[in-house]
Amino acid sequence: MNKTSPIGIFDSGYGGLTVYQEIAEALPDYDFIYLGDNARTPYGTRSFEVIYQYTEEAVKFLFEQGCQLIIIACNTASAEALRNIQQKFLPTYDPNRRVLGVIRPSVEAVGSVTKSKVVGVLGTEGTVRSESYILEINKLFPEIEVIQQACPMWVPLVENHELDNDGAEFFIKREIDALFAQNSLIDTVILGCTHYPHLIKLIKKHLPQHVTLLVQGAIVADSLVDYLQRHGDINQLCTKDRKRQFFTTENSDNFGKKASLFLRKKVEAETVTI
Ligand code: DGL
Repeated sequence: MNKTSPIGIFDSGYGGLTVYQEIAEALPDYDFIYLGDNARTPYGTRSFEVIYQYTEEAVKFLFEQGCQLIIIACNTASAEALRNIQQKFLPTYDPNRRVLGVIRPSVEAVGSVTKSKVVGVLGTEGTVRSESYILEINKLFPEIEVIQQACPMWVPLVENHELDNDGAEFFIKREIDALFAQNSLIDTVILGCTHYPHLIKLIKKHLPQHVTLLVQGAIVADSLVDYLQRHGDINQLCTKDRKRQFFTTENSDNFGKKASLFLRKKVEAETVTI
């Protein structure tokens, strides 16, 4: 029997590392397994059915590694698959395990930040299509207007480590301009894709200076710390031997090299089929 119960962190690729980094810093004693489905990234341009299928496969893989708790560190999968994973998959697979997403904590954070009550969301086509941010923000803060902009080129830029050059800048400026062209009163922008913090330098360069940028990593980490404090039963099951494992569905050397650059520490990864 597998005695380790790491916290599972899953993304379509390198994006979830921006969440992993903050969570691992907030909870250094815990064990973690990261899974990047790099072979099938990006998810954001795929159909609802395909995103669900890929997410369920990733969740099953992480459960098989002993995880009791999984963070879906991907907005697209959180938007398109999380509800069905929680309401349909978990009750039959194992009702005691938990799968959490990244959208709800980000939405909770937005209410205290915006003054103009106009919030921008930058995300993948899948996240924008799902309207999850509009629905979730309206539930908590009906007075806030949400303006969305899909940025389909941004995930490929990150996956190919094209983070800071003229080509990347062209696409970053184009989508930010398109967001503000929809409503110039936006005073808060949610980076609604975990890949985007890798592009933060150029994003900050092109955002109007008065705009507050909400980056998910720290928000999700705070929310997880709070969740574990409130759910002692789950917390108790998570093992705390400071182990870190990285899995990718693509080439493990490539993953290790790029993840090492992103995290600024040596990452050794293993290739898996899910
Ligand atoms: N990091 C994922 C997200 O937060 C990117 C999805 C994709 O692969 O397109 O949405």
